[in-house]
Amino acid sequence: MNDRIIDSNEKEEDVFEKSIRPQNLEEYVGQQQIKENLKVFIEAAKMRNEPLDHVLLYGPPGLGKTTLAHIIANELGSNIRTASGPAIEKSGDLAAILSTLEPGDVLFIDEIHRIPSYIEEILYPAMEDFEMDIIIGNEGKSKSIKIDLPPFTLVGATTRAGDLSSPLRDRFGIVNKLEFYTDDELKDIVKRTSNVLSMHIDDDAALELAKRSRKTPRIANRLFKRVRDFALVEGDGYINLDITLKSLDRLKVDKYGLDNIDIDYLNALIMKFNGGPVGIETIATAIGEEVTTIEDIVEPFLLQEGFIKRTARGRVATEKAYKHLKIVNQGSLF
Ligand SMILES: Nc1ncnc2c1ncn2[C@@H]1O[C@H](COP(=O)(O)OP(=O)(O)OP(=O)(O)O)[C@@H](O)[C@H]1O
Ligand SMILES: [Mg+2]
Repeated sequence: MNDRIIDSNEKEEDVFEKSIRPQNLEEYVGQQQIKENLKVFIEAAKMRNEPLDHVLLYGPPGLGKTTLAHIIANELGSNIRTASGPAIEKSGDLAAILSTLEPGDVLFIDEIHRIPSYIEEILYPAMEDFEMDIIIGNEGKSKSIKIDLPPFTLVGATTRAGDLSSPLRDRFGIVNKLEFYTDDELKDIVKRTSNVLSMHIDDDAALELAKRSRKTPRIANRLFKRVRDFALVEGDGYINLDITLKSLDRLKVDKYGLDNIDIDYLNALIMKFNGGPVGIETIATAIGEEVTTIEDIVEPFLLQEGFIKRTARGRVATEKAYKHLKIVNQGSLF
């Protein structure tokens, strides 16, 4: 996929992200229910001097899963060790990580749905009984030995909870689905970022960025960063509504936050497939994108905003999509 300003996936350049990540629950904007519950569970775990139950965080990219994982460790006063599902290719990889855990550590596994299932099984006893079975020796005379692990908390993050096996999912005591953010929450996030980076943004400008950020903090911050450049080079050095609107125009982010890929998607759905229903593979091919990109990044927002519907026979464009693209829905005329 080409570079996309409203792509909510994480990128190399996003060292920037780390610098603006909230450090504790207090600073973490929105997700009220999740925060309140976590606060209680963390407090209770600390009072009992026990590790926090394993936590699963799921939801679309850029909504704050990684950030929250770090905050959990921080609030527990624990060290965090991070690993990523796709990087765990052999059972030895996971065993190596587990064997270096210290009591009370938080082990954060990102994209946990991508751990191969035969490796995943190592996690079951590790999570349940803080034990690990490892096989030593080679074929013929290998034997399995049990190793005790220190009590730890696994925090798993995934954009695809549906891809987790149920034995794994069932071993998480705390399961949180992150929701899309409201415009006001995103505005707060933009204001916060502007503070951290010491670059003033007017309230109305911050709200405009919020509205065009696909309900996603990562995108709000990324847009902020770009607009900041425009303000510096072509504006007065601070961010007002005028320079914000101009920048967004230049960045081709429309008033709903839809960009080229979204528009291509809706255009294909309406013009090539008569508004659907049509299968996701067919649309993906038509616009030259990966199915996973469409499923993880493009569709969740289009669904949430009511531009498309998912039916048993495929995706269907809604009246809102026709209106937005200024195309008359022939189907609705008859
Ligand atoms: N609730 C929040 N309050 C303030 N900032 C947030 C919040 N959630 C996310 N952010 C900001 O958005 C950026 C992206 O968040 P994060 O990396 O945690 O997303 P993610 O859910 O892990 O995404 P992915 O699925 O791609 O890994 C971070 O830099 C963080 O600063
Ligand atoms: Mg992440």
